Amino acid sequence: MISKELKKAREYEERETAKIPETDRPVFHFSPRTGWLNDPNGFSFYKGKYHLFYQYHPYSPYWGPMHWGHAVSSDMIKWEYLPAAMAPDTEYDGSGCFSGTAVTLPDGRQLLMYTGCGDSSEDPLRKGRWLQTQCLAVSKEIENGVEFEKYENNPVIKADDLPEDCDPYEFRDPYIWQAADGTYRFLAAAGRTGEIGEDGNYLHEKGTQLILFRSNDCFEWEFDKVLFEDHRRIGVMWECPNFFELDGKQILIASPMDMHAEADEAVGSVRFPQGSNVCCIAGEYDEETETFTPDGGYEPVDIGLDFYAPQVMEAPDGRHIMIGWMQDPKYGNFADARDDLTGPGLQYAVPVEDADGYLHGPEGSHTFGQMTVPRELKYRDGKLYQWPARELCEYRKNRLDYDGVLLKDEERSFEGISGRLIELEVEIAPYEVGAPLYREFTIDFAVDDEHFIRLSYKPARSLITIDRSRSGQCSEITARRSYRAKYSYGSLSLRILIDKWSAEVFVNGGEQVMSLTYYTPPEADGIRFAAEGSVMMDVTAYQL
Ligand code: FRU
Repeated sequence: MISKELKKAREYEERETAKIPETDRPVFHFSPRTGWLNDPNGFSFYKGKYHLFYQYHPYSPYWGPMHWGHAVSSDMIKWEYLPAAMAPDTEYDGSGCFSGTAVTLPDGRQLLMYTGCGDSSEDPLRKGRWLQTQCLAVSKEIENGVEFEKYENNPVIKADDLPEDCDPYEFRDPYIWQAADGTYRFLAAAGRTGEIGEDGNYLHEKGTQLILFRSNDCFEWEFDKVLFEDHRRIGVMWECPNFFELDGKQILIASPMDMHAEADEAVGSVRFPQGSNVCCIAGEYDEETETFTPDGGYEPVDIGLDFYAPQVMEAPDGRHIMIGWMQDPKYGNFADARDDLTGPGLQYAVPVEDADGYLHGPEGSHTFGQMTVPRELKYRDGKLYQWPARELCEYRKNRLDYDGVLLKDEERSFEGISGRLIELEVEIAPYEVGAPLYREFTIDFAVDDEHFIRLSYKPARSLITIDRSRSGQCSEITARRSYRAKYSYGSLSLRILIDKWSAEVFVNGGEQVMSLTYYTPPEADGIRFAAEGSVMMDVTAYQL
């Protein structure tokens, strides 16, 4: 028996999907079946298919009471939508089924672990915040599909189970795994109850903790220990943690909220902008004592403009694959910041409330939000490397090569290299060894008379910049970000994936990635290359 809330969501998505033309969707980036998407959830391989669940508000292109959307794929690129897996329909998750992960049980069922948002606090100081508990749902085969039944003893971890100074209103995003001895662990983000500040609000002064729970069977859980804590050095709440071994290192990837900006003084750029960011910490993990010892610092995972809450899973062939929400969370969540969206399917839409109090998009509904491409992870020379999952190469068409092109104080376009659905591999180097370094190299895409997105490289400081200030949006969003690539005497290698309203730029074999979205009209499809000084360039382009 499915709940009336889930039935309603499924009927809605079934009906509305048909109204959303395929042309209104990104082509090789996952987008929600209808409405709104944020974090990837339950990213896993189960019964011969990749499964992707996601934070989902089917009824409007805005964040709202969270459901779990569901899709399956055989290659992580082309996804098939399945009916929504969960709706907020119980006392403990009626305000939202928040993020979580999946694991396969020994009996072959798939288990989803997620955060239930229950009642909002009566405490005026916690106004608008929901009690957060950890919950389970288990797969059940039915005719022609699968259902996820919420566990009868939900929630499995509640406020009482938390250590003293953990805030039960800021406790979410369980990351579950099976330990080597067959027992289970989950790691979740937990804010600490700080003192009450002068303004009467709780201060999360002590910062955040990632806390570990253990279980023998995945159903009965107990608090184990604090695995990691941060005293507000790096933001306030480490959302959506991932914790896994990669190439002999233990990796923690999490999404801290409200970070202070960090400058990269040497290049006059930011290492981290203020606000929400994704960090990677590498270290050693002693399984016996369950102690994580970071090697050193924390590094940004994606230095573009839109990337948050990624989830990492292990594919059956052992690859670690990461998929992220390709959106700046601040910008994505606030409706008024999106007033000037113009892309098809993305227009600003005033939601209407229905009889049950759900907000709906207008007729001919829209979707908002997309995931990055799945990325293979490697850890090499003290760094996290990311590279598009190799499956994407199967979609390449019409290869075009322009080799040994000399760009000398000029701007050029190339026959066949244009469009909003294209992959570019670009290698550049100074024209002559020993000659003065060129000053700047730029690639503009999504170009028309008014618009362009600019990727530029200044070799002297090895500074690479992505700039969407001419994308057509004028709301207050971060439009530009620079980063210092490894210095290489003017040589640079780029792999750029362009899919209608986004780009992902993989720098120097994946040592860094810059992801961004833009809502420039789709007719703006020019691509041009330019150099100040002399640059030798090889370009390979594929239609995707
Ligand atoms: C991250 C996040 C998670 C939460 C979910 C709610 O974007 O805030 O912490 O579980 O989104 O949609």
